[in-house]
Amino acid sequence: MLQEKSLNEALATISLRSIDGQETYPAGQVRYLSDSGALLDVWHDLDTLRSQVSRALFDQRVRSAPGPQVDPVTASGVWRYRELILPAPTHTIISRPEGNTPLYEHPCLSEWVGVDQLYLKHEGENPTGSFKDRGMTVGVTQAMIMSAQAVACASTGNTSASMAAYAARAGLPAFIFIPAGKIAAGKLAQALAYGAHTLQINGDFDDAMRLVQQVCNELGIYLLNSLNPFRLEGQKSIVFEILQGFNWQPPDWIVLPGGNLGNTAAFGKALYEAHELGLINTLPRLATIQAEGASPFYQSSLTGFSERKSVKAHTIATAISIGNPVSYERAVRALRWTNGVTISVTDEEIMNAKALIDSTGIGCEPASGASVAGARKLVDNGTIASDETVVGILTGNLLKDPTATVDYHTGNWPNAKLANRPIVLEPTLSAVQKEIEKRLARAH
Ligand code: F0G
Repeated sequence: MLQEKSLNEALATISLRSIDGQETYPAGQVRYLSDSGALLDVWHDLDTLRSQVSRALFDQRVRSAPGPQVDPVTASGVWRYRELILPAPTHTIISRPEGNTPLYEHPCLSEWVGVDQLYLKHEGENPTGSFKDRGMTVGVTQAMIMSAQAVACASTGNTSASMAAYAARAGLPAFIFIPAGKIAAGKLAQALAYGAHTLQINGDFDDAMRLVQQVCNELGIYLLNSLNPFRLEGQKSIVFEILQGFNWQPPDWIVLPGGNLGNTAAFGKALYEAHELGLINTLPRLATIQAEGASPFYQSSLTGFSERKSVKAHTIATAISIGNPVSYERAVRALRWTNGVTISVTDEEIMNAKALIDSTGIGCEPASGASVAGARKLVDNGTIASDETVVGILTGNLLKDPTATVDYHTGNWPNAKLANRPIVLEPTLSAVQKEIEKRLARAH
C-alpha cells in the first residue's frame, strides 16, 4: 500500500477530463468514462508544465550505458518523459525498462515506398515484443498507486502478453479476455507463460472488449485496455522518442497501423502537447492504416467522420482485427489536430510489405506491415511527396505470429511475391552441394 503522500504527489498535477472538455474528475478516481459516457483524457496543466520541461531536460536523461541499478527516469524511454506522462514517484514505477527502440533505415524499403527518407521505429523491440509495454508500464504503475486488487484486459494478443508480464512484475493477479482461436501463437504463449488467468471467449475481440468492461465495473478489477487513459499516456512516449531522435526537428509524416485506435489517439495527444509546450515548432501529419477487412475508421472517414461505422472484422493481421474501435473519437481528434489521413490496405499488401521488411533483417508481425504498405499507397496516390521524411511504426515483433510467416513462405498464401520456400533435400553432400552451387550462381 502506498503512502498517502506519494499518492497525492503522483496525482495532484493531473486530472481526468472528458474528450469534449466538459467534465473533469480527480486523477485518483477509478473511472474509464465520464458520467455522460464520453472518453477520458489524462489532462496535464500545460501552463505549469511549460516552465518545468524542456528539450534539454529530456536530452540530459538519455543514458549511455545500462547499469545494475535501474532508475526508470534514465533507463526507460517512457519514464524519461514522466512529467508529460504520469508524475509518479520513482519508487512506485513498475518498469522492465521499456522504450529506447531503434529507428531503422534500408534503401530497399525507402525505394519500395517511393520516398528518399523512410525510417522504421521498431516498437517490436520492447521487452514483450510490442508497443503495448509503453502503455502497460504506466497502466500497471497507476494500478499499484490505486491499490488495485487485480487487473484485466481484452486483447488481440499483444496487450494481454504485455499486461501479463507487467502484472507478474508487480505481483498483481491478471485476467485476460481473448477471442478463442483468433490470437497469434506467440502472444498466447506469453500470456500463459507469464501466469495470467486466460479466459478464451467464444466470440471476437469486440465481444471480449464489451465483456471485460462489464466484468471490471461489476467486480472492481482495474481495466487496462486503452480505454484506460493512463495506458495512452505511456504510448505518447513513442512520439516523444521520435521527436527527440530527430533532435526535435519533426519528420513530415508518422504512419502507423490502426486497430482499436489507442495509438492514433496517443500520438495525436503527444504531438498536440509537444507543440503547445514549445518542444517542436511544426506538427508531423499522422496516417493511420487499417486492414481492408477491419477498416471502420477508414470507412467513417469517407463520410468526413459524420457517421461512425462498425464492421465484422476479418484480417490476417489478427492484432488489428477490430470492428468497433474503442478510441474512435480520440482518433478523429488526433487526425484533426495533425491534418492526418487514414486509408486501408489489403491483406496481400500487408503480407508482401511484411515480407520485404523481414527480408531486410528488420522483421515484424503482420499488423506492422500495414505501416509500410500504407506509406507506399499514400505515395502512389500523391498524399505523401517523395521528398518528405516518413517514420513508419513497426508495432510488433516478427516472432509474435510464426504461423502467418511460415504460411506465407510455404505456399499457403496467394500472391506471396517474396516467398522464401524451404528446400527439401536428400541427406547427402552431393545433393546439398548441387543446391548451394545453383543458388550461389543465381545470387551473383
Ligand atoms: N499493431 C499491433 C502489433 C497491435 O497489437 C495492435 C493492437 C495494433 C497495431 C493497433 O493498435 O489498437 O492502438 O490501434 N493490439 C491490441 C491488443 C488491440 O489487444 O493487443 P491500436
